[in-house]
Amino acid sequence: MRKLKIVLVGTGSIAGYHVRPHADPGEVMFPHNEAEFTAVMDVDLGRAQAFAKKYEIPHVYSDALEMFSQETPDIVCIATPPAYHVDLSIRAMEAGAWVLCEKPLCVSLAELDRIAAVEEATGCYCSSVAQFRFGSVPQHLKQIVESNLMGRVLVGTCHSNWYRSQDYYEAEWRGTWEKELGGTTLNHGIHAMDMFLWTMGEWKEVQASIATLDHDIETEDISVATVVFENGALGSVLNSTLCPKQNTYVRYDFQEGTAWTEGAQYDMLKDKWHFHTLDCVDTKSRRQFSEVEGDDLTQHCTQLGNMIQDFHAKQRPLVSGIEARRTIEFISALYKSAATGVPVARGSIRKGDPFYDHVGGSFAQSYHKLSLVS
Ligand SMILES: NC(=O)c1ccc[n+]([C@@H]2O[C@H](COP(=O)([O-])OP(=O)(O)OC[C@H]3O[C@@H](n4cnc5c(N)ncnc54)[C@H](O)[C@@H]3O)[C@@H](O)[C@H]2O)c1
Repeated sequence: MRKLKIVLVGTGSIAGYHVRPHADPGEVMFPHNEAEFTAVMDVDLGRAQAFAKKYEIPHVYSDALEMFSQETPDIVCIATPPAYHVDLSIRAMEAGAWVLCEKPLCVSLAELDRIAAVEEATGCYCSSVAQFRFGSVPQHLKQIVESNLMGRVLVGTCHSNWYRSQDYYEAEWRGTWEKELGGTTLNHGIHAMDMFLWTMGEWKEVQASIATLDHDIETEDISVATVVFENGALGSVLNSTLCPKQNTYVRYDFQEGTAWTEGAQYDMLKDKWHFHTLDCVDTKSRRQFSEVEGDDLTQHCTQLGNMIQDFHAKQRPLVSGIEARRTIEFISALYKSAATGVPVARGSIRKGDPFYDHVGGSFAQSYHKLSLVS
């Protein structure tokens, strides 16, 4: 198989994880002949040059379109602030590349429809970074839910108790509906929620509250929600940047067993997971539940490795299309419920609804008004 050419747009703080596991220049990203990063681009050329030097990437650009036309990449990784994601993703697909774009992939269901139309027209795919899904335990738990090995899943918990100081929000794009596109729900909790919603089974309805309790920002620094799933399970979701003792607590209670995380935050590796079963569970089922094969990194390198395989197989990558839509639709519904005070059902946000045009809907309207005048 030929070596794929990958380029990267945006060389800020997360970019290193796109090109090396743990962002460590000394590590190997791909098997020798699989793929290579041929170029990077940033509007800050000096930053792009320093990045390229650090990771030994040969070409540097300050214009994304020029990079796409000169490099003819197979895959474009995008790691800019959120407001640029959708346009860059579309331009990359129009240049003939598949896309792996940082979260949040876009601001709305309307933009997901734009992406779907370009996928259809170009034959390329656009995937959102959602690295938690690629861990061995999350993949395993999805199978446990689907197989009913521990009986029906009854209760799900997904709490991202994270902390960010006011300094973190000093970057001009953070904390704004216009450039970060949403608050902690869309930008931090999205990691665990994406994994949780993917594993638990299709969500049916969400009821939520949001607030900005302790940061000087436009968007929320906490959201809490209850979720009803199609399979009857109930879930509790919390997203926050207010919690000095940080963790990402995810838990699945089945009829006969529980799986939960301890000490997890930015990864979902095997050592973070615990399993418990009722005494009545037979030894074979207990083993099948708690002994997970492999321990894939819940990082960009695993997702990109999967995408390379999908590219060769010409098959849709996991976190694209309806698989990317599930999480964005859930977040739109969460914000809408917080705005209206009533539960919001999956499938109920359609064209003409402000929450179709922006996940933040009426919360983000001041931004829409500004955009209309300018
Ligand atoms: N997956 C994860 O674990 C994870 C973690 C942190 C951040 N992120 C996401 O990654 C993205 C970037 O976050 P960050 O913390 O690296 O931000 P950052 O501000 O450190 O870096 C952004 C970079 O993009 C460049 N840039 C801005 N506009 C550009 C444009 N139009 N074209 C090209 N380059 C442009 C900036 O000059 C900067 O170098 C965000 O969407 C964020 O939510 C993901």
